[in-house]
Amino acid sequence: MHAKKALSGVVALSLALALSACSGGRGSEDSADSGDNKGALIGVAMPTKVSERWIADGDAVKADLEKAGYKVDLEYGNNDIPTQVKQVGNMITKGVKVLIIASIDGGSLSDQLEDAHKAGIKVISYDRLLTGSENVDYYVSFDNEKVGVEQGKSLLQGLGVVDKDGKDTGQKGPFNVELFAGSNDDSNAAFFFKGAMSVLQPYIDKKTIVVQSGQTDFNQVTTLRWDPATAKARMQNLIAKSYSGGKTVQGVLSPYDGLSLGIISALTGAGYGQGAKKLPVVTGQDAEVPSLKSILNGQQYSTIFKDTRLLGKQAAVMTNDLLTGKEPEVNDTKTYNNKVKVVPSYLFPPVVVTKDNVQTDVIASGYHTQAELDK
Ligand code: GAL
Repeated sequence: MHAKKALSGVVALSLALALSACSGGRGSEDSADSGDNKGALIGVAMPTKVSERWIADGDAVKADLEKAGYKVDLEYGNNDIPTQVKQVGNMITKGVKVLIIASIDGGSLSDQLEDAHKAGIKVISYDRLLTGSENVDYYVSFDNEKVGVEQGKSLLQGLGVVDKDGKDTGQKGPFNVELFAGSNDDSNAAFFFKGAMSVLQPYIDKKTIVVQSGQTDFNQVTTLRWDPATAKARMQNLIAKSYSGGKTVQGVLSPYDGLSLGIISALTGAGYGQGAKKLPVVTGQDAEVPSLKSILNGQQYSTIFKDTRLLGKQAAVMTNDLLTGKEPEVNDTKTYNNKVKVVPSYLFPPVVVTKDNVQTDVIASGYHTQAELDK
């Protein structure tokens, strides 16, 4: 009995150390006997498999939790709210000890979160904030407003309005820019837009940037479910309505790689990227392989690299802490108000990527391989 207990303690210790070492020491380094929770089932709800990043997220969280000795129920919601609601309900019925949720609609799971709370299940909101519920214990994500700031800055850099250090070049344009935001039921979308507009608005005010469509409010520019086809259709519409008289689009704020590719497809369909009609500067996010290829081909201008391996590890470290009686480490206790409470958060910094650092940041870190880019 004692030997068994000691052994389980050693295993738990080495796993906890491995986890905290992997995450750069973010997490408790000591380990408690995981007692009742040893080998517990953890529910991981991801939004969709349409985008490669969420597949990578799911794989990373699952692998890290399994490494720590937990069982994992990983489900994808197919971007369909009722499906995700059902999946989370089933996880609670199955007796999971912790729920890690990347929601489709941040506000749609309140009943399930209430049930989870009653059953003593801890809830970690993964990358997307769960809103309108007090039953959210922790949030692990990236600095989402900073993501937007970086997107705005890189758009200005691509246009030549600011230099590599973010200093104004004196270039006055005017440049025609159109704005896109993400899904309005994902709280990240508003943070990204707010961050980007904090950088772009002063240039809109001085007319260095002109939004020919006049669509500058968040609610006019959102893209439900982050759907690339929706973004493509809106870009086609904008081209037809606001750029028919010979004006050209010179920049597009896009918050996510999937949308960027939809937008670029609308633009190439309208003759951009051929002859003298240059493609505009288009931003993005997630460092997905098709967008990295597009960046290297000189189409998409930039993306934001968010290393989802770090996110997965941190979620696993937090879970292990919760189940071994430790308080998970957080580094932000102010920003993420989910309309009911401020959710204690652990945030990682985003990295902006253009053709200059695809190799040095994304490939060198092993997040993607050269072979994937060459395919
Ligand atoms: C957001 C996420 C972005 C992007 C987007 C579309 O919630 O923060 O990185 O993945 O969803 O999937």
